[in-house]
Amino acid sequence: MPSQFYYLSILEKNLRYKKYVIDKKLCYFKPHATKIEKSFSEEVIFGLGLKKKMIQPKFFYDIRGSDLFDKICALSEYYLARTEIEILNNIREELTMILDSEYRLVELGSGSATKTRIILDVLDKIQSKIEYFPIDISDILAESSEILLDSYSNLHITGIIDTYEDGLQFIEEYDDKKNLILFLGSSLGNFAETDTMHFLKQINKTMKRSDLFLIGLDLVKDKKILDKAYDDSQGITSQFNLNVLQRINDGLGGNFDLNKFEHRAFYNQELQRIEMYLKSKSEQIVHISKTNTDVKFNKNELIHTEYSHKYTIPQIKQMMNQCNFKINNMWFDSNQYYCVLLASKF
Ligand code: AVI
Repeated sequence: MPSQFYYLSILEKNLRYKKYVIDKKLCYFKPHATKIEKSFSEEVIFGLGLKKKMIQPKFFYDIRGSDLFDKICALSEYYLARTEIEILNNIREELTMILDSEYRLVELGSGSATKTRIILDVLDKIQSKIEYFPIDISDILAESSEILLDSYSNLHITGIIDTYEDGLQFIEEYDDKKNLILFLGSSLGNFAETDTMHFLKQINKTMKRSDLFLIGLDLVKDKKILDKAYDDSQGITSQFNLNVLQRINDGLGGNFDLNKFEHRAFYNQELQRIEMYLKSKSEQIVHISKTNTDVKFNKNELIHTEYSHKYTIPQIKQMMNQCNFKINNMWFDSNQYYCVLLASKF
């Protein structure tokens, strides 16, 4: 968060957020700090206390984690990002015809600037004032917003630093403007199976009939391609995975020795998902001082950190249908590795 911002007011109706105004074109809403800190420590301690230990993937994205994820997106093995960009570039003209001057851009995850820029470029052609509401759990949202403002003179950004669920609720209660909701990067695949439908239904519920939902989803493909995408030769994904332990060390006073854990990621064909873990190389006890907790690990014990589900086209259609979405358009790359779809509410 930049140092020049100042605390201005508390959002009426909803005392959970503070509003930080940077200037006429940039402001953020952020829940009171205690809310985020509390959920991080509570969820980490809960997850590490389970028989099958786990850490939620949303905790990957502190400043360093977001930076490592950007590096993953630039890897040749990680085809997802560049394929999605290729599709978005190909549909620029079509989107210009579909959208109009009233759509506000709401993005779940402030995302990579490259993808957001493609959509902002489209809106720039048809709007004199562009409104962009990124929702992201990470403060990196503040940094990326400032960079975007330098490129678009007609851009106004209202960032919401919160979880997707709470950010969506914020948007729903905020006003009645038409929204184009972006959910790119196949981030839906990171939800647990049961939560996926729940989340899609929640997005649908917050939408008005005039709203649109643009989502990118990764498709089922050869296991070798998928395994390499999540276990790259430069070890960037390994650093990304291990960084969540560093975050616990920094934020909660943990004493994880990162050299005593290793990255494991593979595609489970039957369940159509990448499974990502941190494996304890030895028997060890980790102390987390802020919560005064000891966590015991056996040799080879796993901490589950992420699923990344992959979909077939019929599955996507069925899933959207079950969540009350009407698919308006579906676009693919030439290999059919990836799909971008535009949907509205039935
Ligand atoms: C953000 N998300 C869609 C990425 C994915 O592909 O599941 C996160 C990621 N994990 C490892 N590499 C990338």
